[in-house]
Amino acid sequence: MTLRGRCGIVRAVPRSQALLLENIHASAHEELRRADIDVHTHAGGLAEAALIEALRALPGDGPLILGIRSKTRVRAAVFQAVPRLLAVGAFCIGTDQIELAAARSAGVAAFNAPFSNTRSVAELVLGEIIMLVRQVFQRSVGCHRGEWNKSAVGSHEVRGKTLGIVGYGHIGSQLSVLAEALGMSVLYHDIVPKLPLGNARPADGLFELLALSDVVTLHVPDTEATRGMIGAAELAALRSGAYLINASRGLVVDIPALRGALESGHVAGAALDVFPVEPARVGDPFVSELRGLDSVILTPHIGGSTEEAQASIGREVALALLGFLSGGVTTSSVNLPIIDAPPRRDGGCRIINIHRNVPGVLSAINRVVAESEVNVVGQNLGTLEDVGLLLVDIPLAAADPKAQELAQAIAALPTSLRTRIA
Ligand code: NAI
Repeated sequence: MTLRGRCGIVRAVPRSQALLLENIHASAHEELRRADIDVHTHAGGLAEAALIEALRALPGDGPLILGIRSKTRVRAAVFQAVPRLLAVGAFCIGTDQIELAAARSAGVAAFNAPFSNTRSVAELVLGEIIMLVRQVFQRSVGCHRGEWNKSAVGSHEVRGKTLGIVGYGHIGSQLSVLAEALGMSVLYHDIVPKLPLGNARPADGLFELLALSDVVTLHVPDTEATRGMIGAAELAALRSGAYLINASRGLVVDIPALRGALESGHVAGAALDVFPVEPARVGDPFVSELRGLDSVILTPHIGGSTEEAQASIGREVALALLGFLSGGVTTSSVNLPIIDAPPRRDGGCRIINIHRNVPGVLSAINRVVAESEVNVVGQNLGTLEDVGLLLVDIPLAAADPKAQELAQAIAALPTSLRTRIA
C-alpha cells in the first residue's frame, strides 16, 4: 500500500502481516486479505519459543497481528520479544490463554468474539425445549430398544408454556425472542436491570421464576455468585414436572442434586451441554452422574459449535483487528480502554498513542502537539487501570513529514508505550 503525501511524495507504508494459527476460519483470511494484509497460517497451536520465532520470521518491518484459538498461550515474553506485535485476536470466546494485563502494559490490544455463537446456542436450547416437553429423547431411546410407546401421556406442546430464562444477556435475550415466536410466555431473572424484549417480563427474583416456569434455562457467566446457583433448594423450588436446561457453564448446577431431583420425578427432564469437569480432548471418556438417564439430553459442549458460528467468529475478530489496525478502534477489546471512534474519511490521519497513565501524561502530549503547530480536528481518550489510549486526528496525510514528526515527538515521550500513524 502506498500513501500520497501532501507535498506529492509517494511513500511506501510497511505492509501489515497476520499470523493465523489453529485453523482459524477462512472468513478471517478473507477479511484480512481484503484489507491488504498478508496472511500467514499454521494449522496447529504453537509453544512460546516457536511462536516468537514464527512472528519474528514474518517478512518486512510492518505491524503484526496474531490470531489464535484456545491452544496457543500468549504470555508477557511474547510481547517483549516481538515489539512489532500490535494486536492478538482470540478467535473464540475465552481469553484465559492470553496474559491480558501484560498485553495492556505492552500496548498490545486483545480481542475475542463474545457473541458470534449466540444464535447457535439459542437455537440448540430452543430445540431442546421442544425435545424435552415432547419427550422425544425418551421415545427415541425406547424405539432404539425396540419399544413402541405411542402414548400422549406426558407429551406437551410448548405453546402457552412458561420459559424461565436465568441470565438475560446475549443468549438469554435472543432465546426470549425465539421462544415467544413459538407461543411461549417468557419470564427472566438477571442481576442487572434489562430491557424486556417482546412480551417477556422480569421475575421478582430467582425463586419466583423457578416457581412459575415450565422450563428453566440458564444463561449466566461463571462467577462466584453463579457457581452452584442451582442446588437442592432451587431444584425443590421448581414446579413439579418442570424441565431444566444448562448450556451456560458447568459449575452453575449441582449435578448430584439434579440427579436426585430427576430420580424422584420432581424434575421431569433436563438438557445439559456443559459439565463441572469436561474431557480435555475429542475422544477422551465422558464421565457424569447423569449418564444413563433417559430423561436427560447430554451434549458435549456444542452450544456454539456450528459452521455459521465459526464463520461469524472469523469475521467478527478479523474486523475488530482491522478496526484497531486502521484507526485504533477498540470497541470489543478485552484489555485496552474502549474507544469507539469512527474511521477517518477526510484524507487526514490519526495518531494512535498508547501510554502509561501517570499524572502529567496528557499535558506532556498536548505540549508536544501545541509546539508542532498542527491543528487537531478530533481527540479521543480512554483510560483503563495503568494504561491510556489517545487518538489524535489531524488534517494531514499519514505520509506528511509534519504528521510524521508529530508522531515521533509523541512516541519519544517517556510515558509512551506505542505510537503510530494510521
Ligand atoms: P452475557 O454476558 O451476554 O449474559 C450473561 C447474563 O447473565 C448477563 O445479563 C448478566 O447480567 C447475567 N448474570 C450474571 N450473573 C448473574 C446472576 N448471578 N444471576 C442472574 N443473572 C446473572 O453472556 P452470554 O453471551 O449470553 O453467555 C451466557 C453463558 O453462556 C456464558 O456462561 C457463556 O460462557 C455460555 N456460553 C456457552 C456456550 C456453549 O457452547 N454451550 C457458547 C457460548 C456461551
